Amino acid sequence: MPAAWPLVGRSKEWEFVADAMGRQRGIVLAGAAGVGKTRLAREVLQAAARRGSTTRWAFASASARGLPLGALSPIISVTDGNPAQLLRHATDALAAGTDVVVGVDDAHLLDELSALVLYQLVGAGAAKVIVTVRTGEPAPAAVTALWEGSLLPRLEIQPLPEAATAELVAAALGGPVDSNGTAKLWSMTHGNALFLRQLVLGELDAGRLVDVGGVWRWSGAAGVSPVLAELVRARMGGLTDQAREVVDVLALGEPLGTELLVDLTGKKQPYGRRKRPAWWASSRTVTGGRRGLRTRFMGKYAETALVSCAPAGCAARSPPRAPPTPAAAAPTTPCAARSSCWIPTSPRTPRC
Ligand SMILES: Nc1ncnc2c1ncn2[C@@H]1O[C@H](COP(=O)(O)OP(=O)(O)OP(=O)(O)O)[C@@H](O)[C@H]1O
Ligand SMILES: [Mg+2]
Repeated sequence: MPAAWPLVGRSKEWEFVADAMGRQRGIVLAGAAGVGKTRLAREVLQAAARRGSTTRWAFASASARGLPLGALSPIISVTDGNPAQLLRHATDALAAGTDVVVGVDDAHLLDELSALVLYQLVGAGAAKVIVTVRTGEPAPAAVTALWEGSLLPRLEIQPLPEAATAELVAAALGGPVDSNGTAKLWSMTHGNALFLRQLVLGELDAGRLVDVGGVWRWSGAAGVSPVLAELVRARMGGLTDQAREVVDVLALGEPLGTELLVDLTGKKQPYGRRKRPAWWASSRTVTGGRRGLRTRFMGKYAETALVSCAPAGCAARSPPRAPPTPAAAAPTTPCAARSSCWIPTSPRTPRC
């Protein structure tokens, strides 16, 4: 299997981005974690390099955020000076060359000075830029001003559609997956490219995804790869206790009636409007129906990972509040008794 999977299912986004890079000053790609923002931005930059553009790639990170110009210093050399001089030198250095295209990954994590440099670069039209941000994450004002001030268009990158998900896995494996496996991959990842990749690599390693006469067959229950477990752990570490409680309950009992979720966690709203972490919006769906609103995680893989990462959290957590009333717990899955088995005594949730 190739180390880098081929880019699949982004032809519309590619057209939109190409248009923005050609006719405007660049573009912001926004989206949930793992949907493929960085991959698309890198592909665009590589295409520009093949056409002869000067390209630069910077990535912001939580650790470099504390340093002025922390994100940009690896790609430009800037001499000492007061902040105004630094700003000018850094902007000039980024724009040096012909037909310059600059990629800035995870710009929501930029330090303030780097964010200002980016804003100035775009404002002056000194280079084309392609910027990625995670939807819903707080970002420096100079970054949000890029799209709020209409300097750059913002494209929301969605998870891959079902057909593209199957196409991507087939391209990566060098052959199609049977229909059961394809359906399972979709229901577990809902087109999140990162989850999909981790899931497929993990299942290959475990020997559950096997090539049978040119068609890939997937047997047994999926495991959670160490990489995904680490990723989920890192994200969960940033949650408040209140948010964590909601996530635990949902991961263990989903889909839940929204009323029931609120009841179980004792909150009028799972999150205050402004406090919802970005992944909350993208990892959960609320659907209507005769039984009212239901909330569930969008991909079983995320849910499985949350459950498997939650032993300390769940086991040590205070017991649930008053058990749901039968009316509130109206069965929303084939497992009518799910609500009675959602607090596990072992790290893994019993699958009803
Ligand atoms: N359309 C695609 N075709 C093939 N592989 C893809 C596609 N989109 C993403 N990938 C792969 O999926 C993985 C996750 O993608 P990527 O890193 O771009 O996500 P992201 O949105 O930038 O996530 P994060 O918010 O965590 O930075 C990478 O290995 C990437 O190469
Ligand atoms: Mg990324």
